[in-house]
Amino acid sequence: MNSTDRKPRKLHVVTHGCQMNVYDSARMADLLAPLGYTTVDKPEGADMVIMNTCHIRERAEEKVFSALGRLRVLKEEGGGRMMIAVTGCVAQAESELLLKRAPFVDLVVGPQAYHRLPELIAQAHRTQGAVIDTDFPAEPKFDFLPATGASQGVIANLTIQEGCDKFCSFCVVPYTRGAEASRPAAQVIAEARRMVAQGTREIALLGQNVNAYHGEGPDGKIWSLARLLAALAEVPELKRLRYTTSHPNDMTEELILAHRDNPALMPFLHLPVQSGSDKILRAMNRKHGADDFRRVVARLREVRPDMAFTSDFIIGHPGETDADFAATMALVRETGFALAYSFNYSPRPGTPAAGLPQLDQAVKDARLYELQAELRRQQDAFNASTVGLTTPVLFTGLGRHAGQIAGRSLYAQPVVVEAPAPLTGEVHTVTITHANPNSLLGRLEQEQIAA
Ligand code: SAH
Ligand code: SF4
Ligand code: F3S
Repeated sequence: MNSTDRKPRKLHVVTHGCQMNVYDSARMADLLAPLGYTTVDKPEGADMVIMNTCHIRERAEEKVFSALGRLRVLKEEGGGRMMIAVTGCVAQAESELLLKRAPFVDLVVGPQAYHRLPELIAQAHRTQGAVIDTDFPAEPKFDFLPATGASQGVIANLTIQEGCDKFCSFCVVPYTRGAEASRPAAQVIAEARRMVAQGTREIALLGQNVNAYHGEGPDGKIWSLARLLAALAEVPELKRLRYTTSHPNDMTEELILAHRDNPALMPFLHLPVQSGSDKILRAMNRKHGADDFRRVVARLREVRPDMAFTSDFIIGHPGETDADFAATMALVRETGFALAYSFNYSPRPGTPAAGLPQLDQAVKDARLYELQAELRRQQDAFNASTVGLTTPVLFTGLGRHAGQIAGRSLYAQPVVVEAPAPLTGEVHTVTITHANPNSLLGRLEQEQIAA
């Protein structure tokens, strides 16, 4: 690149989809910073807009095209100067088709190729035409991350595993993110240390199937997630660890015991089950039954009694009957979730379930409504159950009102207390006094105020 490539430019990044996209967006901004790109929080006046997209449900995809329509107007108003890049899972899934639907897009870059962005941007400038890179390159993108990046804050994400080999009947991820691959443990630990040096105190390890992690260890052996978590717990000042998303089949006894033995690991787990019906789980190609999920939950509660769970549910997968839905409701009532995400099944092009006869929309809607009412009730009950607890809170910064500071509980619930100082990055004991629908109020314990 010549020096003109380094003139100051404004970059706006829009992120849709999961936490892995949030992580990737931050890395893309880090990668472009040395080329003179500073991030701005509006697309107006930006030289470059990156739209990092999600393909998981039809609505996610529609969101991309309506957002692109708005960007097109801005681009035209600016005389076509704005460069528009579409990255992430829609870019991967649609590739050339995306350019047909949105010919004003300059770059289409799949999730495995974002480390090539600088050269792709240069190429787009040179050729004045659209550039597509949706390969799964041989060189892993994580090897190309800059050694430093912007601080990610007190609570941050770190991707350790990507892709999926499980091919659930409904899911696009194996096609958009490719085969399962784990980053080497030493690379993960080095990145965690850098994050901690910049003020991070809690890290969530990310992966589409994070508990299937099997990265090369510094000792030449293959490390499990439990082994990696044990090494990360040794990083000074790194106070809390989480991991997401897990598959029930990869919850090994070693990982379950880590919730008892690893003091940094939070008693909170996102464990998507999708359905409570064995027949539907089979149709989904989940390769486990409802009782396998029950056993994992029970075992975790046995080794760590204060464990709480979140999950994902799909309602209206092809073949779901009233009895199958009743089995899902039974599993939900029995388990008791702190929080859960639920979605109507959305047929995705190229996935096996999309070709099957589909349920009536009204049936799906009615079931989803019933499930969500129960999940809301459980979430409120869980939050209410924390009132009166005296519990550690990791503080992240100031609250919305003067004199208030905010933090996170063991269960990642936002907690607000009154305090004379921000205490950012510190863990202090709080007694929870009140539960709102999406946050808790608490009181700092007396001795901590003096601390
Ligand atoms: N790897 C994770 C989840 C990845 S996608 C796992 O195995 O559980 C996140 C969630 O989106 C899924 O858990 C599922 O509940 C939902 N989802 C995926 N594909 C979907 C589809 N076609 N329609 C509706 N929801 C879907
Ligand atoms: Fe999708 Fe299933 Fe893989 Fe999760 S495990 S990413 S739901 S294919
Ligand atoms: Fe969406 Fe891709 Fe994540 S499809 S959920 S952005 S892996």
